[in-house]
Amino acid sequence: MKKINIPCFFMLCTNTTEKECLEKGLFGDREYRLPYLKSIKKGDIGFLLNLSRDQLLGIFVAESEARLNIDPNAWGGGFPAQVKVKLIGQLQRVDKASEKLEKIIELREIQRDPFPYKVPLRNTYGPDITDKVISLFTLTDNVREYFKIPPPEEIGLYPEYKLEDVAGLEDVKRFIYQRIIAPFEDEETAYKLGLRIGGGLLLFGPPGTGKTLVAMAIANHIEAKFIEISPSVIIGYPGEAERRIENIFASLDKEPRAVVFLDEAEWVLCKREDQTSSVMQRITPVLLAQLSRIFRQKRKPIIVIAATNKPEMIDPAFLRPGRFDRIFYVGLPDKDARAKIIERCLKNREHELSEDDISEIAGKLEGYSGADIENIIEEAAFIAFEERNARPAKITKNDIMNAVEKIPKSVKPEEEEQIKEWAKERGIKI
Ligand SMILES: Nc1ncnc2c1ncn2[C@@H]1O[C@H](COP(=O)(O)OP(=O)(O)OP(=O)(O)O)[C@@H](O)[C@H]1O
Ligand SMILES: [Mg+2]
Repeated sequence: MKKINIPCFFMLCTNTTEKECLEKGLFGDREYRLPYLKSIKKGDIGFLLNLSRDQLLGIFVAESEARLNIDPNAWGGGFPAQVKVKLIGQLQRVDKASEKLEKIIELREIQRDPFPYKVPLRNTYGPDITDKVISLFTLTDNVREYFKIPPPEEIGLYPEYKLEDVAGLEDVKRFIYQRIIAPFEDEETAYKLGLRIGGGLLLFGPPGTGKTLVAMAIANHIEAKFIEISPSVIIGYPGEAERRIENIFASLDKEPRAVVFLDEAEWVLCKREDQTSSVMQRITPVLLAQLSRIFRQKRKPIIVIAATNKPEMIDPAFLRPGRFDRIFYVGLPDKDARAKIIERCLKNREHELSEDDISEIAGKLEGYSGADIENIIEEAAFIAFEERNARPAKITKNDIMNAVEKIPKSVKPEEEEQIKEWAKERGIKI
């Protein structure tokens, strides 16, 4: 998570004094404590500890420095060392505050009838504490926005794959370079010629063949943020999925370039009547409205990439010009591509395979996907590892052949056929 580089402070209240703190946006303490409060600066993050309930209230921000009698009448004049504060978002109450704070800062015990209470040793702390205390609270959108904390799936998603890392798929890669990446690299000329930059792309093909890899590679080449939207991301989010989608797309407006990746796109892009889950029935219109908004923005360089291995479920209406109108088949790797994938998987592992061995194995792996091949090499490494006491720790050709025995092809020929059939019916070259 991005570090919140702001100092924080703690002030105390009880059930009797809490109400006035909240209503007035004011925290107070005894006059003699003013010197201790002096290091609170405007903009520092404040927390209110209600001793009667052992609750930590937050999250506040100081709107003034601490001084005497900002409101002389507050608390009947009993706590004149005061700081003006404002709440960030909604008021949140963290129960069992002292137990939780104890793990973050040192507490001291004070005597207050009827029990002793534990309170922070000092009023103010450096920024290294702020993150930890804030993590006790729920990161609502308001809080995220205040601290500029991006929603979880958007953090640092600048993938490091290059198209060169994708084995095979030469035609697809060439087209993507020339027609999708190149206009981003010379936007000016592209605009002069009235070319649209970005837009929609559909990648279809059997599972584990590199669709996600291609999407990430495109984002990397054009230096765009990669934002994934999949059923698990949307439905797995507690709370309002609709609002989440809107937030994701609103954050896109601030990005100079972005790749939106719709994984398992058949969920969203299927015909309305095929929509089985009620959650998706609710969410789909919101998502589609956002997508058409993007597709209408001619001058906003956003690529929306949809990936599916069930293209027959997709409503053809989504494949019309101006929508997902560039459609690529990402198929099972051929022999050369399989050899390249094996080579890449072996790159950082000790092994004793020659180029000829790799080529021979690649020849035997017809019908295996890239993901299957990765599994095979991983399994071969385990086989070698299990025999580490008997022989040098190196993957052999034999280990790989033994691994192949254990790992079945994940793509059934019928499945591949069905996908190809769909393409044929639509006149899509594969
Ligand atoms: N053509 C390829 N070149 C290099 N690596 C590949 C290739 N195809 C698959 N892989 C590897 O296999 C794994 C799965 O690839 P990826 O996630 O891109 O597949 P996918 O087509 O998106 O699959 P799914 O449909 O299941 O989402 C990745 O780790 C990737 O590195
Ligand atoms: Mg994928």
